[in-house]
Amino acid sequence: MTTGRTNDKSPANPGAHAGQRYLVTGASSGIGAAVCRHLAAEGARIVAVGRDETRLRRTVETCEGPGHQWLRADLADDDLDALADEAGSGGARMDGVVHAAGVFRPGLIADQTPHDLEQMWRTNVRAPYLLVQALLPKLSAPAGVVFVSSVSGHTGIAGQSAYAATKGAVEAVMRCLAIELAPRGIRVNSVAPGFIATEMNVQFRDDGARVAKLEAASLAERLGAPGDISRAVGFLLDPRNSFVVGHCLRVDGGYPVSEVAKGVLLPEDRGQVS
Ligand SMILES: NC(=O)c1ccc[n+]([C@@H]2O[C@H](COP(=O)([O-])OP(=O)(O)OC[C@H]3O[C@@H](n4cnc5c(N)ncnc54)[C@H](OP(=O)(O)O)[C@@H]3O)[C@@H](O)[C@H]2O)c1
Repeated sequence: MTTGRTNDKSPANPGAHAGQRYLVTGASSGIGAAVCRHLAAEGARIVAVGRDETRLRRTVETCEGPGHQWLRADLADDDLDALADEAGSGGARMDGVVHAAGVFRPGLIADQTPHDLEQMWRTNVRAPYLLVQALLPKLSAPAGVVFVSSVSGHTGIAGQSAYAATKGAVEAVMRCLAIELAPRGIRVNSVAPGFIATEMNVQFRDDGARVAKLEAASLAERLGAPGDISRAVGFLLDPRNSFVVGHCLRVDGGYPVSEVAKGVLLPEDRGQVS
């Protein structure tokens, strides 16, 4: 495992998360990176986790405020106890963890390989589960846990059966842990994003017609942005929102309730939106 610290700028407007320390996975890009910047701008110190050291450094360097740290780890393969020990070294406590790391390997059932299933399961379900377990002794009370799931875990989309299974599993884990961990002062919730423009789905955004359909299917008439999700994560972690627990907050532009969405999700499109 490689680790580093950087940055000494003070946040312009420290807010709800002042003095809090959060571990964020998937911090090297997309939603996870946006979560790091959002929480840091509100005064938090971040432990940013991902595999790509260059991009992790960039995330941490663009976070406001002092005391951020990055940890390079492969969540599918590395020892997660060692990762938790490193994050909590010197007795440092953690006020929350955000599980944004994820793998999206779409495909119809005929095309899906055991390797794809295994990678998605290990990264999307096994890793966040074992990481919460490993971090338990290091979490403060109160603390917050937020899983990033997906609308795929709530609806049916052709071409996403294996990915959707992992996201549905994360929702099930969230509900159970919300009950198990509440007595310890640990509040567990999830965010289910709709289509958010990130590297994960860049291949679908090459097709202008598909983007137009996705935009039309959203009641917000646009694709989602990582900031839409990071603000929701900030809300769920905010200790003032302690009555929000065991909850999945869908941030999807109203996609599942939109009549138009039904046309976007027809099998001929292979439904390959994440
Ligand atoms: N974008 C969407 O439309 C959408 C919709 C619903 C849900 N989601 C969920 O949102 C989360 C974030 O996705 P994103 O859109 O931000 O995609 P992204 O930009 O591709 O980010 C994925 C992140 O996961 C990390 N990751 C993947 N495998 C890993 C592993 N084995 N070990 C450590 N880190 C690993 C990547 O780190 P490295 O690059 O450093 O390896 C990267 O930081 C995912 O859980 C995804 O399923 C996304």
